[in-house]
Amino acid sequence: MVQVESPARRATTDLAPEDTTRAFASARVAVQGALDGFCARWLSDLEPTTAEAVRYALLGEGKRLRAILVLEAYRACGGAGNALDLAASVEVVHAYSLVHDDLPCMDDDDVRRGRPTVHKVYGVTVATAAGLAMVPLAARSAWHAAIGLGLPNAVAGDIVRDLMSASGAGGMIGGQLLDLEAEGRCMSLEDLERVHRLKTGALIMSSVTLGARAAEAPAAHREALARYGAAIGLAFQIADDVLDVTATTDQLGKTAGRDLDLHKSTYPALLGVEGAIERAVALVDDACTALQDEGLLTPTLEYVARFIVERRS
Ligand code: IPE
Ligand code: IPE
Ligand code: MG
Ligand code: MG
Ligand code: MG
Repeated sequence: MVQVESPARRATTDLAPEDTTRAFASARVAVQGALDGFCARWLSDLEPTTAEAVRYALLGEGKRLRAILVLEAYRACGGAGNALDLAASVEVVHAYSLVHDDLPCMDDDDVRRGRPTVHKVYGVTVATAAGLAMVPLAARSAWHAAIGLGLPNAVAGDIVRDLMSASGAGGMIGGQLLDLEAEGRCMSLEDLERVHRLKTGALIMSSVTLGARAAEAPAAHREALARYGAAIGLAFQIADDVLDVTATTDQLGKTAGRDLDLHKSTYPALLGVEGAIERAVALVDDACTALQDEGLLTPTLEYVARFIVERRS
């Protein structure tokens, strides 16, 4: 989208940018493997067509950003285990949110991750059921992953609680409802920020705080990561709004211009494309500063934050 300058900032470890890019790409492959593992382990109780729809939703080509955030926050806080299964649980919640977001009663979209949406392939009933089935499976797999990391029951419980809270009425679902109710209305910037923080920011913020919890990080670390996650979470949805009007369906793997068609309030509608980008860049700076202040700004966490506003899909 834009090149972001950060002259004054230094990540806590020095890694050449190409190493960071490579680390990001290989984390994506590792997450894909964990999602394969999730499908092998958790779908056997589902009716076969529903299981197939869940697999289709999960194994499409996503950026895996939320999972990478779990992994990187975990490592930044000193976690030394394998947090891939925990990271995959967050991607399951995210993939469910996309299945339902695309349904005819929500954004009514035909294309996702470069392929027909789940309800286009399996029908609305199966897509609805598949999405609903993914939520408890994500909770169960998060619990299982936390226990597998050797965490006490209380910490595993906190992890599942945080993930479900971020997904629920006080987080993602609450934001989705406000987003739908606002179609055709012009929201104030303040109201739009609230919607974006809920519908997208909450799960992104919980990705990093889950990583911190899994590493049993001190509260100050978790709070710094929460500030980082909240800022990049809002920046992520601002960038998504911008891409909706600046990128093509081919680049996005989803229908460009959908927000305009649905008369959604968006950041570019309220601030213009340049104004929206400026706001997203400022948020990314705030996010990195929050981590730097706590000595947690790793090259990958900085890379992910900048990727959020520079991406083209
Ligand atoms: C799309 O999220 C939905 C929003 C919250 C804007 P992503 O852009 O992370 O989608 P995938 O996972 O890469 O497909
Ligand atoms: C969706 O926001 C946020 C979710 C919680 C899924 P959008 O409706 O803008 O996401 P896209 O553009 O369809 O991916
Ligand atoms: Mg939507
Ligand atoms: Mg949508
Ligand atoms: Mg969008």
